[in-house]
Amino acid sequence: MTGIATGSFIEARNTGELGVHSLDTFVMQVPSLKQAQEFYSNFGLDVREVGDTLTLRTFGNDHVWATLIEGQKRQLKYLSFGAFADDLPRFKTHLEGLGIKLIDGPPGFESNGVWFYGQDGVLTEIKAAPKTTLDAKAMPSFVSVPAGQRGSGLGHIELKQILPTRLAHCLIFTNDVTQAINYYQNVIGLRLSDHSGGNVAFMHGIHGSDHHLLAFARSNGPGMHHCSWDVGSVDDIGRGALYMADKGFKRGWGVGRHTIGSNYFHYVQDPWGGFSEYSCDIDYIPKGHLWDARDFADEDALAMWGPTLPVDFVHNYEMDEEFRLIG
Ligand SMILES: [Fe+2]
Repeated sequence: MTGIATGSFIEARNTGELGVHSLDTFVMQVPSLKQAQEFYSNFGLDVREVGDTLTLRTFGNDHVWATLIEGQKRQLKYLSFGAFADDLPRFKTHLEGLGIKLIDGPPGFESNGVWFYGQDGVLTEIKAAPKTTLDAKAMPSFVSVPAGQRGSGLGHIELKQILPTRLAHCLIFTNDVTQAINYYQNVIGLRLSDHSGGNVAFMHGIHGSDHHLLAFARSNGPGMHHCSWDVGSVDDIGRGALYMADKGFKRGWGVGRHTIGSNYFHYVQDPWGGFSEYSCDIDYIPKGHLWDARDFADEDALAMWGPTLPVDFVHNYEMDEEFRLIG
């Protein structure tokens, strides 16, 4: 959809250049849909059984952000990017011009798009879809009270489930971060936001998106490190972490604030070693804005502040022969 340049809204489309506008959805295999239902429902997502899959939505939004299928191990199966409908023929020509072989999509998944094996052999789709990335920065809330009132409310711990509003981004593992940057820039049309050497990199969409809609961490193969879900405040992040811990999902990392992307975070470890992130106040890169991409030193790459990193935070369990949580 092309936006209208009025008030605080900006035109949503960067005309001329070719690039996807959104990470539309992803498909991941997990060893147990029953465990997945428990984890993601408690995390605050709208989890529905559809045939022999689970779909992940956010409450109040009918978009399917992810589909989970059951299989032997947790494994990223495919990434699907959304593009403007009239860019789809351009993408087809572009991909064929790069010598990329287009293939049929997996059976059972409806598609109007083009399919191919992408970076690290990850099955990838570019399809015509509504823009799900935001057209302006999502502003967090901070609620304070006047002097003489108790800001924490009840004065005792009250568990509250937090309901994220959208999938913000995914961070995937790759064999080669530099190659991944080049691939996603030249093939998919993303732009580099920031990176830390060849260890991690973060990319945004050219039609206006968060600081990153896709990010990479160096590993010995592909995998899904984390999916990140936007919530409204730092308080929501802390309460979400507490709620998940109460449900038995105590392992994770946070609360903290990232240096790259600036978002506040808490990561909850899923039953198979990956993470789901509560995130808020991530930097936003408007359409047409030339972001000053920086190379961050190793010590600045993860967080401005936060607790000690879990030993397995960047471990790619998908590449392990046998699954056993470290630490
Ligand atoms: Fe993240």
